[in-house]
Amino acid sequence: MHIHVLGAGAGGGFPQWNCNCANCAGYRAGTLRATARTQSSIAVSADGTDWILFNASPDIRAQLAAFAPMQPNRGIRDTGICAVLLIDSQIDHATGLLMLREHTRRLPVYLSAPAQQDLSTGLPLLKVLEHYCGTEVHELPLDGAAFTIPGAAGLVIRTVALASKAPPYSPHRHDPHPGDNVGVFIEDTRSGGRLFYAPGLGEIEDHLLPYLEQADLLLVDGTFWTEDEMIRHGIVHKFAREMGHLPQSGEDGMIRALAPYRGRKVLIHINNTNPILVEDGPERAELAAHGIEVAYDGMDFEL
Ligand code: MLT
Ligand code: MN
Ligand code: ZN
Repeated sequence: MHIHVLGAGAGGGFPQWNCNCANCAGYRAGTLRATARTQSSIAVSADGTDWILFNASPDIRAQLAAFAPMQPNRGIRDTGICAVLLIDSQIDHATGLLMLREHTRRLPVYLSAPAQQDLSTGLPLLKVLEHYCGTEVHELPLDGAAFTIPGAAGLVIRTVALASKAPPYSPHRHDPHPGDNVGVFIEDTRSGGRLFYAPGLGEIEDHLLPYLEQADLLLVDGTFWTEDEMIRHGIVHKFAREMGHLPQSGEDGMIRALAPYRGRKVLIHINNTNPILVEDGPERAELAAHGIEVAYDGMDFEL
């Protein structure tokens, strides 16, 4: 299984257009050892030709241009993407769908029932796309039932509901529904390689343990270092968990939570305020001491 990180940043990317936090300002000033990151998306393929796009970020145009397999050039209009799977209906994961409107047939989109509802009402991208290529919507199971995606030979996928958060625009924001956010477990039937991908991992729930145990690669929520990161920066009065993200530090944080698992551990969906973006900083060293890596745009994995 080939896994390519198209964008490792959270909503807003890094640096964020209007942000002058220590990271964003330091990056612009050239005083910080850190690299820019676009918004949250990965591509996965068994054969290196047919790819499933996980999330469609607002930065998708540049992301696809930067990764050659996305344009195999087999005809006047072509793409390496056989389907798009959305883990939620957040702006940073869904709005890139609009940029795929020139597709020559209905675009296969896999998403949960609550995400489909959000993208048909509060942010009606699916309705808008009916005036362009249209979509072929497939509802994701939430119980881990195995399924395959036509065109993505050799990959078996399971999706599970996560205790996380629906987007601020969603009627479910303060009324959680199973499937507002999902985690994805993918197995390559030939190599046996297994990936668990969950950029919106707000809580380590019991039903997730088998996936965390079996995964060769854990690509999980790296949004915030501390629970009060946004508050401490004076940006917005929201705690990490209120936004559906498990912070890395602390007794009950992600670093501790990942300790029991044997798979390679990589954080993804990194918010621009997160000190782990600083490559020579103490937080990055602490992650390294626990065997945890930080994803970057263009990072590749083979499982
Ligand atoms: C989130 O995951 O909480 C989002 O990145 C927020 C956003 O896109 O504004
Ligand atoms: Mn996000
Ligand atoms: Zn910032």
